[in-house]
Amino acid sequence: MHKGKGMKFVGDSRISAERKPNVPKDYSEYPGRTEAFWPNFLLKEWLVGAVFLVGFLCLTLAHPSPLEGMADPTNSSYIPLPDWYFLFLYELLKYEFASGDFIIMGILVLPGIAFGALLIAPFLDNGPGRRPHQRPVAVGMMLLALASVIWLTYESASHVDWESRAEANKPIPPGEQVEIDTEDPGYAVYENSCMSCHGDDLQGGAAAPSLIGIDKSAEEIAQIAQEGIGSMPPGQFSGSDEELQQLTDFIVSVNEEQSE
Ligand code: HEC
Repeated sequence: MHKGKGMKFVGDSRISAERKPNVPKDYSEYPGRTEAFWPNFLLKEWLVGAVFLVGFLCLTLAHPSPLEGMADPTNSSYIPLPDWYFLFLYELLKYEFASGDFIIMGILVLPGIAFGALLIAPFLDNGPGRRPHQRPVAVGMMLLALASVIWLTYESASHVDWESRAEANKPIPPGEQVEIDTEDPGYAVYENSCMSCHGDDLQGGAAAPSLIGIDKSAEEIAQIAQEGIGSMPPGQFSGSDEELQQLTDFIVSVNEEQSE
């Protein structure tokens, strides 16, 4: 006979009188559907993570990303591209229904639906089944999204010649940079008439493109210096024929040096 049986001795209102012992739930009713978080579940997650990590590592070693050269703000023919994992969004904007007047579709509505769907993912097919065929809506939507991402990425990437793109924009190693001979008589003429736009090393600037690596003869350069070209206004050069000769010789020699 226990003394005080049937009586409750509770002095602290925060402590429930019917205290349950702290024993984990018994999952044996659901064999095969549950597992201990530690270590079983975590170990599996970690293994899958490690496999992918090593996979990506091998991939980056086998195919180093083709780095391009320094950004050149004067090169207006350069078409910037997003990284591969955003190429599909970029490709989407090329379709008529997602560009021009419908650009809102491409930049807000469609990506909004896709990423918004992630929020409602837990509420799609929330039945107890865990096999793919028991969750047709969620699995169907995922496959559709996956297929469109792969297709759009493929479409976008197949239209780009990656090799020549990397080749054309590869960084100039410091040793190959052009030495500008500022003692050259042509440089003095250049300094007077052209430098304000084309930069003190002929490298170009915000106002004008680089004069290094241009494919122009001395006569063509002389003509451009006097008559302008495209958005370059005419009459930049004013001086003697001798100075014009020095100027064009100078620009041509810089370009010859560069192509060696
Ligand atoms: C007011 C600014 C300005 C000045 C000064 C100027 N340029 Fe230009 N230049 C330009 C612009 C802008 C272009 C690009 C034209 C285009 O393609 O639309 C250009 C283009 C050129 C090109 C063609 C480059 C190519 O890629 O084929 C040459 C050559 C050239 N300039 C030479 C000169 C010379 C020589 C002088 C000095 C006598 C000079 N420029 C002075 C603005 C200028």
